[in-house]
Amino acid sequence: MFNRPRMHRSRPPLPGSASRRTVLWPFVISLTVVLMVSAVKQEDFKTCAQSGFCTRNRAYAELASGTPDWESPFRLDPTSLQLEDGVLTGDLIHAPTSSSSSAESGGALNAGYTIEVHLLDSDAVRVRMNERDPKRRRYDGLQKSVLVKPLVSSTQYDQLGRDEDGLFTINYGSRRQNSARIRFAPFQIEFLADGVSTLVLNEGGLLKIEAAQVWSDVADTRTRTPMERRLEQGMWSERFKDIIDTKPRGPESFGLDITFPDIEDVYGIPEHASSLSLKTTRGPGAQYNEPYRLYNLDVFEYEIDSPMALYGSIPFMLGHSKDKTAGVFWMNAAETWIDIEKIESTSGSSRRTTRTHWYSEAGVLDLFVFLGPTHRDIFKQYSSLVGTTALPQSFSIGYHQCRWNYISQKDVIEVDAGFETHEIPYDVLWLDIEHTNGKRYFTWDPKQFPDPFDMQLHLANKGRKMVTIIDPHIKMDRGYHISKEATDKSLFVMNNHLKPFDGWCWPGSSQWIDFENPRAKDWWASQFSYDRYKGSTNTLFTWNDMNEPSVFTGPEITLPKDAMHYNRVEHRSIHNIYGAMFHAATAQGLSTRNETLQRPFVLSRAFFAGSQRYGSVWTGDNKASWEHFEVAAPMLLTIGLAGLPFSGADVGGFFGDPEPELLTRWYQAGAFYPFFRAHAHLDSKRREPWLFGEPYTSQIRAAIRTRYSLLPFWYTLFQEASMDGVPIIRPMFFEFPSDEATYRMEDQFMVGEALLVKPVTTAGATQSEVYFAGNEKWFEFYDGQVKQGPGVQSVSSPAYKIPVYQRAGTIVPKRETPRRSSKEMENDPFTLVVALDSKGEAYGRLYLDDGESYEYSRGDYILREFKVQGSVLTSRSLNRQESETEWSFIRRYSSLKVERIVFQGLSEPVSRVVIDGRPTVVESWHDVAGKQHVVIVSRANLSIGQDWSVSLS
Ligand code: GLC
Repeated sequence: MFNRPRMHRSRPPLPGSASRRTVLWPFVISLTVVLMVSAVKQEDFKTCAQSGFCTRNRAYAELASGTPDWESPFRLDPTSLQLEDGVLTGDLIHAPTSSSSSAESGGALNAGYTIEVHLLDSDAVRVRMNERDPKRRRYDGLQKSVLVKPLVSSTQYDQLGRDEDGLFTINYGSRRQNSARIRFAPFQIEFLADGVSTLVLNEGGLLKIEAAQVWSDVADTRTRTPMERRLEQGMWSERFKDIIDTKPRGPESFGLDITFPDIEDVYGIPEHASSLSLKTTRGPGAQYNEPYRLYNLDVFEYEIDSPMALYGSIPFMLGHSKDKTAGVFWMNAAETWIDIEKIESTSGSSRRTTRTHWYSEAGVLDLFVFLGPTHRDIFKQYSSLVGTTALPQSFSIGYHQCRWNYISQKDVIEVDAGFETHEIPYDVLWLDIEHTNGKRYFTWDPKQFPDPFDMQLHLANKGRKMVTIIDPHIKMDRGYHISKEATDKSLFVMNNHLKPFDGWCWPGSSQWIDFENPRAKDWWASQFSYDRYKGSTNTLFTWNDMNEPSVFTGPEITLPKDAMHYNRVEHRSIHNIYGAMFHAATAQGLSTRNETLQRPFVLSRAFFAGSQRYGSVWTGDNKASWEHFEVAAPMLLTIGLAGLPFSGADVGGFFGDPEPELLTRWYQAGAFYPFFRAHAHLDSKRREPWLFGEPYTSQIRAAIRTRYSLLPFWYTLFQEASMDGVPIIRPMFFEFPSDEATYRMEDQFMVGEALLVKPVTTAGATQSEVYFAGNEKWFEFYDGQVKQGPGVQSVSSPAYKIPVYQRAGTIVPKRETPRRSSKEMENDPFTLVVALDSKGEAYGRLYLDDGESYEYSRGDYILREFKVQGSVLTSRSLNRQESETEWSFIRRYSSLKVERIVFQGLSEPVSRVVIDGRPTVVESWHDVAGKQHVVIVSRANLSIGQDWSVSLS
């Protein structure tokens, strides 16, 4: 039975002062309800109807769809256009038509807007719109935190000027394969790839920019229509439950429709507990009533199959169809909602068109369009702006053992010993909030953790690490050094009266560091130095939680939007990036605490575009239920598609007690999540992998050992992601982009291009339906049995394993000896598992480096390419530099051996194997079904750092 979270034990006592009681009542009630129903409390979070700007933008869209000849009231002044050095600028004029004016809220008009279209060297296009002479300047400071480098304009474009239809066209890209076609009135930009319309801005005419106003200018006595009055509600102050958002800047939202012509499936915009292919929220038969919401929030036991906002937000969307792909990045960190509608195609295509409607509460309209042409190119283009995943510390892709809480040093030592006794590998033991001295981060509970050095050393001796939690809420306590210093240096977020904001979180009354303040980042980073973080060592890493930020007493359990940051930036404008700024500062602290830079490892709950540069994320407080287990796959695939590949879900489910079968199935799937961590709520029963006895212990051990055997493969995938921005676990359509049957497939996925994984998410199931894509063979990972694609086949999935298949044409590097930790495997030899395709060919790579420093960026790594062609397997170096021997990692590890090579999928028996000129004894057989011949070379003795060949005849 599901064990309800007993939040009263977990949350701190509430403050009792009379003056605060009114604000806190809803919170007390909300906790009581959590106790009773143990499900998401919908009413803690806004619906669109409870948000003024969401209502206004949706009403505008309704008006447009209800008006037969709707035209956008925006037009571009042809005489204003200028194209210089890759940047087109012009004036947008708002000239309401009779149909549009009634939905433009009172006083919210401004006649003049500017537009900029930047053609970038990456082939991306940036489109910005702003007010020309705003009464209040809008927040426009996001790029310093989001973009990795200054943007470079393209020189590869031709301006065609106006054609006979009055359209202004620019062709861009190295082959001028892309075009931006601009219509003046009504204003619209259509992007074409190789002449095919691929993405259109303002085709639906939903562009709307609320001009920033001054209250005294609009507080007139002008008569308003009832419609205007309704829409004005919430413009100048907005109440949600008992908390008032004072909105000193008034309304400043904006919205725009982005259309993907003849593209039925769009993906991305995490984080939602929803499907991979996004659902419709508007139009006949809409699957959700509410738009998808992006607003980082701390949501207990979130609801599944919902567009509700969760902990992270990445406003990146990919549209994909058989013959075209497009991406869009909406660079805005204020609250954003997105409606999705499928409409009939206007081009005569049988495929429907997806129209999306985006609206944000504040900031400027700033977006990027990517046309590929392939989906892989889009990831390159997008990640050239926001960065790729940082190459992680190699230990961090091993298995992590966490719970709230390992309660003492003794507990830690015992859990560690449990792994030894049961011969289960793991890399990291985690300590949650109870390890601190009264929830003061960077401190240790002196009674329970008297000797943190000794504890870390105990783990480090086995190659293991420790992670402690460091949250962004700082206990208000002058005696606490972090609180005192941050107060003295004025580094806290302010309230709307410009006094330090205080709210309630785990430690009780707390304050939040203002990471918008340029001094805050370095100051925070410096807290990780060994002399300040007493008891920390270089094997201690960090977990950043509650960084949406979670404020138990705040509106929607977060910071009020009218809280103030450095330089009078309202929290409203930067809410969704707050958590990522905290994550970045922590990562900086960990990488700079040693004499030479080391890679950090920081897990974060909140995220934004660019978070991949700082570490990994997880999907927050899920539940020990089959449904939560099932939704983890689409959630992680979506986060990966938005450029953040290092992600995981709490294995076992955070709340509640998983039955052993669920726990085991979750481990078997979790072993294929990029971030692999088991975690559990304070009130759940202990569930370390050996506690359920046999057969579960052996099954969980096997799952974790599978992960360890594949660490060389995973690390190679991380390296690839760090270069190209591609996801590590991938939806099926990513690998089979022209196979329409895969576009909505989310219950199986690919790890890189080689492994197909199908989690078993139904209790008692021992058969699974697997879709084998492509006209290719697939080899069962554990016994090599062959399946032929394309099509769905029912395969057995007994309790001890889930379906995992290797795709023909790939080579997977492994290390097969089980050890305690990844560190202890670093001198082990490799096995190469070759799965030949129908032409007898296969390809794979292996990347290795020291796993912790940045020496790889200077050339100290080993990158090999393995290839089978014409019955010969070759290994050759892909290192960029020639003088490899000067590097210490290369020198030390080049002589590591490839010991075993397994060739699967041979069409003929093999009688002779010659390794670098010497004939070798091998095992060989053909499988029972006679579908393939298999050869195993068990003593290949080939050095990983040298070129060699193995020929079969
Ligand atoms: C939050 C986190 C959870 C953690 C708990 C206590 O609920 O999501 O993982 O265990 O806080 O720190």
